[in-house]
Amino acid sequence: MSDKIYIFDTTLRDGEQVPGCQLNTTEKVEIAKQLEMLGVDVIEAGFPISSPGDFKSVIEISKAVNDPIICALSRAVEKDIQVAGESLAFAKRGRIHTGIGASDYHIKHKFNSTREQVLERAVAAVKYAKKYVEDVEFYAEDAGRADNVFLAQMIQAVIAAGATVVNIPDTTGYCLPEDYGNKIRFLKENVSNIDNAIISVHCHNDLGMATANSIAGIQNGARQIEATINGIGERAGNTSLEEVAMIIQTHKSLNMHTNIDSKKITMLSLLVSKMMRMPVQPNKAIVGRNAFAHSSGIHQDGVLKHRDSYEIISPQSVGVPDNSIILTARSGKAALNFHLKKLGYELSKDELQKTYADFLKLADQKKDIADEDLIVLMEGKLSDTTIEINHVQVVCGKPLEPLATVELSINGKSFRESATGNGPVNASLRAIDRILGEKIVLEEYLVQAMARGSRDEGKVHMTIDYSGKRFHGFGVDEDIVMASVKAYVSAVNKISTLKIKRENSVAKSMAS
Ligand code: KIV
Ligand code: ZN
Repeated sequence: MSDKIYIFDTTLRDGEQVPGCQLNTTEKVEIAKQLEMLGVDVIEAGFPISSPGDFKSVIEISKAVNDPIICALSRAVEKDIQVAGESLAFAKRGRIHTGIGASDYHIKHKFNSTREQVLERAVAAVKYAKKYVEDVEFYAEDAGRADNVFLAQMIQAVIAAGATVVNIPDTTGYCLPEDYGNKIRFLKENVSNIDNAIISVHCHNDLGMATANSIAGIQNGARQIEATINGIGERAGNTSLEEVAMIIQTHKSLNMHTNIDSKKITMLSLLVSKMMRMPVQPNKAIVGRNAFAHSSGIHQDGVLKHRDSYEIISPQSVGVPDNSIILTARSGKAALNFHLKKLGYELSKDELQKTYADFLKLADQKKDIADEDLIVLMEGKLSDTTIEINHVQVVCGKPLEPLATVELSINGKSFRESATGNGPVNASLRAIDRILGEKIVLEEYLVQAMARGSRDEGKVHMTIDYSGKRFHGFGVDEDIVMASVKAYVSAVNKISTLKIKRENSVAKSMAS
């Protein structure tokens, strides 16, 4: 029988602390319900003393969720613990997560205290929390940099005081996996009452080792992992839930399991990213846009011959319908043939050879090639990209409603439209939509500064959806509205079928 690893999700607490990621109560409840469906064992729902909003969220999540334990964070301060306890009034199973610094950095510089005094506060906090709930988790903050002998003394004392779970956070993301694993083993071997509590790992990603450290922790005796969806969290983030869940599922030799329904991972990743306005990096393990996209010719050939050549987990196992074979100038004939077959084109060897030469010319122009481009390639209707930006003008600022006027040149003819929107970018894109007369959905929008400084250039990455297909665009400009319009137009220019329709509608509008 394999060992159960409890998954403690802190997306709504450590994750939500990130600037710009704040959620309202309704949004938190929605994520909490999805976390329950995903199968997490514990939901850390907030830090109730920190704000009335956090307090309310813990109450509402407690009412909305049935199976997972609902956890509320507090410092080792009576008032904090009392408020945390009150916030759990409606939880079917409530847990207070209290704690204090364990490293000398924290003891001296944060608390201006001594090891003895901190130990006393730790024990008192656990005893006080026990007045509200049976299930008390203790965190030894900055345990990653704490002296192991003192840490063991602290953990032994809090378990004796009633702690049911002991959390050993690598708060600063400092530890090497081997050292962190040894720390957990040291506690297993030197804390006499350790079997009365579950050891929990809580790792941060400052050096990119949060996942590796968490796995080292469970390999050495920990049985709970604290993690967040998409790895969001303080600074470089927390351990990513999807990564540890898939590592445990993939590496059968660990002889461990979790309750996570991995097929729901992608859906939850998208929900969290959207609600927290925090894009997922395309190359992020498991949930990044490119996690199952093969783009080099050698890999494409290999994966088409046998998936296992380049895929260690199936896209379906995390809720992605299929892998994608991205067509670029680096793709080989195997990938091209694969896409053509899917579109219903059966080519002889010679035909494929000829089409491949045309494909490479097109791929050099367009960077990535969509199914529509292939249809155009096969049907011989390819024409050069014809949308150009003539000018963009916006009027915005409070209390005005942002208004944009955009003029585009399509096949050499000028079209101008104006539209309002909730901001200058939104108004500009709506004006373009009016010119095109098509339903285009903006899926992802990412703005980044090229460098620091006041005369900086901004770059915009955009993903749009047209008829269920995704197209990427990119724009750079000193003016962020212009960069956005450029990105949008560059994405639209990749939609060959739109272009064909548009030519018809332009023809119609000129005739009438
Ligand atoms: O990183 C940390 O130490 C924490 C504790 C509050 C558990 O988030
Ligand atoms: Zn943390």
